[in-house]
Amino acid sequence: MTMLDEMMNIVVAGHVDHGKSTVIGRLLADTDSLPEGKLQQVQDNCKRNSKPFEYAFLLDALKAEQAQGITIDTARCFFKTEKRRYIIIDAPGHIEFLKNMVTGASRAEAALMVIDANEGVEENTRRHGYFLSMLGIKQIAVLVNKMDLVGYKKEVFDEIKEKYTAFLNKIGLESMIYIPVSATEGKNIASLATEEMPWYDGATVLDQLDLFNNISPAEDLPFRLPIQDVYKFTEQGDNRRIMAGTIESGKFSVGDKLVFYPSGKKTEVKSLEAFNAPVKTSAQAGEAVGFTMKEQIYIRRGEVVCREGDTPPCVGVRLRTNLFWLGRDNLRTDKVYYLKCGTAKVEMTLEHVERVVNASDLSCINRQYVERNEVAECILQLDAPIAFDLTDTVAAMGRFVIVDDYEVAGGGIITEALPAGDFDHRNIRWSGRNISAGERKQILGHNGLIVWMTGLSGSGKTTIAEGVEKQLVSMGISAFILDGDNLRRGLNEDLGFSAEDRRENIRRAAHVASLFKTAGMVTIVTLISPYEESRRFARKVAKGDFMEVYVKADLETCKLRDPKNLYKKVEEGAITSFTGIDSPYEPPTAPDAVLDTVLWSEEECIETLVNNILGRIGVSR
Ligand code: ADX
Repeated sequence: MTMLDEMMNIVVAGHVDHGKSTVIGRLLADTDSLPEGKLQQVQDNCKRNSKPFEYAFLLDALKAEQAQGITIDTARCFFKTEKRRYIIIDAPGHIEFLKNMVTGASRAEAALMVIDANEGVEENTRRHGYFLSMLGIKQIAVLVNKMDLVGYKKEVFDEIKEKYTAFLNKIGLESMIYIPVSATEGKNIASLATEEMPWYDGATVLDQLDLFNNISPAEDLPFRLPIQDVYKFTEQGDNRRIMAGTIESGKFSVGDKLVFYPSGKKTEVKSLEAFNAPVKTSAQAGEAVGFTMKEQIYIRRGEVVCREGDTPPCVGVRLRTNLFWLGRDNLRTDKVYYLKCGTAKVEMTLEHVERVVNASDLSCINRQYVERNEVAECILQLDAPIAFDLTDTVAAMGRFVIVDDYEVAGGGIITEALPAGDFDHRNIRWSGRNISAGERKQILGHNGLIVWMTGLSGSGKTTIAEGVEKQLVSMGISAFILDGDNLRRGLNEDLGFSAEDRRENIRRAAHVASLFKTAGMVTIVTLISPYEESRRFARKVAKGDFMEVYVKADLETCKLRDPKNLYKKVEEGAITSFTGIDSPYEPPTAPDAVLDTVLWSEEECIETLVNNILGRIGVSR
């Protein structure tokens, strides 16, 4: 390997304003890695605007160019020493940090943690330390920055060193070195500041960077290629399917026997395909490749290609994880999320929180949700199996992010693949499997089904439900209404009408309905259930045989009907947080049926719904 070939990804972490950008700017300048004239240009710019020059501006200037797509090379923000090239993963915020670490092609092998000498160890200094430990980054150098502002005093440096060492020890980390620096003044960055800090005779930042070890080359690890895309070519009788993706680890060649996970399908590599590049017969970690297979098997995005004979990956639907949560809303057990790992994206629910840790002060709490900025050990339940690795096999393949409403809101590492079996983590067994669904159906003459009716108070849910129930029962079908008001008299009597209570109300109703359905009942649920998200959760819990029925009536009509005199009470101020008035109702966006009780008569609505239900449970009149 020649000198220039050697490369290392480093992340610069630390609390805001502690000088991350200045450190990066200084590294770029002191290693002559800036584009020609850039330093001068930024300095001139500062002079023109009569503001003092700062090294952090260099980074801003590079970023601005990057955003405009001017200089491609600096987009990667790299600098070189005599030993190798460095790529800096800039992590301005938690989310960026997380995304870069988990999904980025640029995964850090070492970290510089910047601490302001004046401010000392702050919340994010600890939090980022925790992130590093979770992500398995063990090579850390702590830079105690802005030493110029504390008169280059050794005592200040020593105190911070002692404090942060104690914290890192608690989370099983150790900094390889603490370096007192002044990024603005360029002290101890490229050369030792013997004059200002004669008491320090350790390595400079650049020396230390060169002392970090390259993590064992990923091409020596088991072969892992997460499938990103499948291209089909149909021209001129050419029926090739090209599988494409970026090799995460290991290497493969034409003729290798492959196994896809989680499907377990097998084939052989027929050819490697290159776009605008010479054709090759083998490829290794880091390369984006396309390949064709000997057999035409059906493979989807998200599967992981492995080599027969290599250590196989884990496959699972229940995972024990260490995760950190950065979402605005809490991570909860009654919501459906997406988990992304490699190129796989599957629906996910939080099954259980084992313990919550405050990443800053390391205190532990026992509760069933995770708040922003907390770290937690959690059991996650996936909708479909994924293939992954644990940290000691291929670390990158065990990292994941959680998507909440289209945004990355958390992430972490998988620590264990749990059996999807009968016992869960609390030693509770899912019983009731001695009669199969098929047998039950044969005895009852029909399937179970959940008919989830949502709508404003006074829209007609109960009226229609009662009519439907009556007709079904008269036909010999087991049907039963789970009514919101009834549930609120018993099971849910501890709940009110806050958003949180309503969610809990619906969560419980969803589980009860699901049990009724499993028992073979046509279960008609009548709940306002104002949140789309909760209804989605109910559908998820049911695992099939679920229909969402929107009982539609405008608010004015509901007010006029006012069957329980509730709208009147709202007007008088006796009830607050009333749905449709001062509490939201989110109409379904994709209901399975809509019953418009303004346009249609009661009988029409009942008739329509009964027919729909009969179709679904396989009964004819
Ligand atoms: S939900 O929003 O949590 O789904 P649910 O259907 O269980 O509500 O209960 C709604 C019933 O509670 C209404 O039919 C009404 O009789 C009664 N109720 C009392 N206060 C309120 C309120 N503030 N908002 C809505 N319904 C209320």
